[in-house]
Amino acid sequence: MISYDKLISRKVQDIQPSGIRKFFDILDEMRGVISLTVGQPDFVTPLHIRQKGIQALEEGRTYYTSNIGLVELREEIAHYLERRFQLNYDPYSEILVTVGGSEALDLCIRTLVEPGDEVIVIEPSFVCYRPLTILAEGKPVVITTKEENQFKLTPEELEGAITEKTKLVIMTFPSNPTGAIMERHDLEKIAEVVRKHDLIVASDEIYAELTYGKRHVSFTSLPGMKERSVLIGGFSKAFAMTGWRMGYACAPSAIAEQMNKIHQYAVMCSPTVSQYAAIEAMKNGDADIEYMRNAYDMRRQYIVSRLRGMGIDCFMPQGAFYVFPNISRFGLSSEEFASRLLFEKKVAVVPGPAFGEQGEGFVRMSYAYAYDHIMEAMNRLEEFVKELEHKAD
Ligand SMILES: Cc1ncc(COP(=O)(O)O)c(C=O)c1O
Repeated sequence: MISYDKLISRKVQDIQPSGIRKFFDILDEMRGVISLTVGQPDFVTPLHIRQKGIQALEEGRTYYTSNIGLVELREEIAHYLERRFQLNYDPYSEILVTVGGSEALDLCIRTLVEPGDEVIVIEPSFVCYRPLTILAEGKPVVITTKEENQFKLTPEELEGAITEKTKLVIMTFPSNPTGAIMERHDLEKIAEVVRKHDLIVASDEIYAELTYGKRHVSFTSLPGMKERSVLIGGFSKAFAMTGWRMGYACAPSAIAEQMNKIHQYAVMCSPTVSQYAAIEAMKNGDADIEYMRNAYDMRRQYIVSRLRGMGIDCFMPQGAFYVFPNISRFGLSSEEFASRLLFEKKVAVVPGPAFGEQGEGFVRMSYAYAYDHIMEAMNRLEEFVKELEHKAD
């Protein structure tokens, strides 16, 4: 008998599978479920972008590209970042095309973190930061953002988490799952702390295009921050391109060069056909972003007003496409609330602790779904809430 337990790395065995996936697996086996769990646009990739992918295939562009990505794509990413966010990255030495923002995050953490380094993770957050830090033998140090601060990171919270071992801060605004954003004046205070303690920031700005009302400010655009940041960007969310697996990292050339070594050994290059489609997204995708953002904005307002109408406390998200309502008043844990809602009303949401322990008392709902779908989910949730309240009387 082979003992796989002994064969498989302890580090990997100790990592928990994603709490979002756990709910997907239950859903697979149930019928008639309305799901608000998936963090991806319901829109199909815009036709003109798909057509460039098809054209690339028809022209036989089925070979590897250079490791760091097609030069034309890197140039277009540089133009796009300048046009949309006033950023200045050199396409020949500071931009690396990756397999989704996910790979960019992995490369960034593995390149910067040495055993024992502390990595500040701001929770509730997207699920990969902690496990990737642990795989790199770093130590995650968690800061929990608070509802009363609109889930923003405060300079005091950051100061309080820093020790002489702190190396990297992973910051994600707009935030998945809270929908929080950081404005220029918020970021300036964070930049001061980063400068004072000589830190590096991984700024995951994958939802940069999805802000409602206030335009996104990139952390790396602040004076002196480009030199101490790795910017993580992607195509999945803004261009509805999750399945193409396209993203990028922008970093000082000394860091980008080292990240590219891992990238070349791990994946060689991003999918070639996807790179051609991505060029089109960068060049001619602004109107698509606008169209989808307007749709999300309407859904955002609708879902928040329905939740508040049911007496559920809900922070009005300023970015991304999630709401993170506070369900603590029902006296159920997040997991109980989500399981009962699923089994009693066939509505799927993700329990808050999937995004960090302090997510207890919250659930995440994605509003990247069709309006009718969200309406039906809210009708069922309303019934569920009424029944809970009735039982409590
Ligand atoms: C905050 C955040 N960063 C990164 C990603 C990774 O996206 P992708 O690998 O599709 O670019 C996601 C996906 O949900 C996310 O929510």
